[in-house]
Amino acid sequence: MLTLDSLGRHYGDHLVLRDISLTVPDGQLLCVVGPSGCGKSTLLRTIAGLLPAHEGTVTVDDTPVSGVPDRLAVVFQDYGRSLFPWLTVRENVALPLRRRGLGRAERRAEAERILERVGLGGVARRHPWQLSGGMQQRVAIARALVCRPALLLMDEPFGSLDAQTREDLEDLLLEVHRTDGATIVFVTHDIDESVYVGDRVVVLSPGPGSRVLLDLPVELPGPRDQIGTRGLPGFVALRAQVGRAVRSGKKELP
Ligand SMILES: Nc1ncnc2c1ncn2[C@@H]1O[C@H](COP(=O)(O)OP(=O)(O)OP(=O)(O)O)[C@@H](O)[C@H]1O
Ligand SMILES: [Mg+2]
Repeated sequence: MLTLDSLGRHYGDHLVLRDISLTVPDGQLLCVVGPSGCGKSTLLRTIAGLLPAHEGTVTVDDTPVSGVPDRLAVVFQDYGRSLFPWLTVRENVALPLRRRGLGRAERRAEAERILERVGLGGVARRHPWQLSGGMQQRVAIARALVCRPALLLMDEPFGSLDAQTREDLEDLLLEVHRTDGATIVFVTHDIDESVYVGDRVVVLSPGPGSRVLLDLPVELPGPRDQIGTRGLPGFVALRAQVGRAVRSGKKELP
């Protein structure tokens, strides 16, 4: 279980997050929505133990986070820069397994298995720069999944992809979540996407000093599908609720 208790964080005298309290049960897919600059990436980096909390605490399974927690994986916002161009796709994906002490053949087999799963079985020997943006993002997802994380943090992972690729990857994420059951914190500024993939949506107010404006369970029948789910009256109502919260936050600005 992931718990944020009165979390606050600033850069110098610039207050970014204030009084963020959330309990994320095991296996939940939590979406965090908020306008650009409100502190979503800062929140993820703090959960990941890459930045210290200045107020309050982050705990994973009752242990305060002081460094990067075990069994954590992150898909960063800028995937283009997060892959190593001099390594092949398979080598990129196998990289986190080195720390696990697996032999070369095992690392290779495991990387190939996961690449197959994300639909990239045929490109293991290519380099990232030989792939489209959507394929590169699949590589980043495969690399995050290869260590079977218990907690997966994703920072606007589909932000710069075309609509079709984005829908395909949303469905891949839902499939992975259904079968692996990891706890996922998924940051997006896309309201529809947050309701489509989330079990729960949290809306942050604009900075400085972002706080939680809305914390909404998403009770839609599963498995979700792009056409059917988005047409449900329940989906439309939730989307409106999230949209209103995002707008009300904008009005709070001085
Ligand atoms: N390393 C840093 N040093 C100083 N200020 C920073 C640093 N990183 C972020 N900030 C500031 O903190 C605020 C929150 O930034 P953050 O990147 O967390 O926002 P975000 O919600 O992820 O935005 P986006 O949607 O554009 O990715 C911004 O005002 C940003 O300028
Ligand atoms: Mg960001």
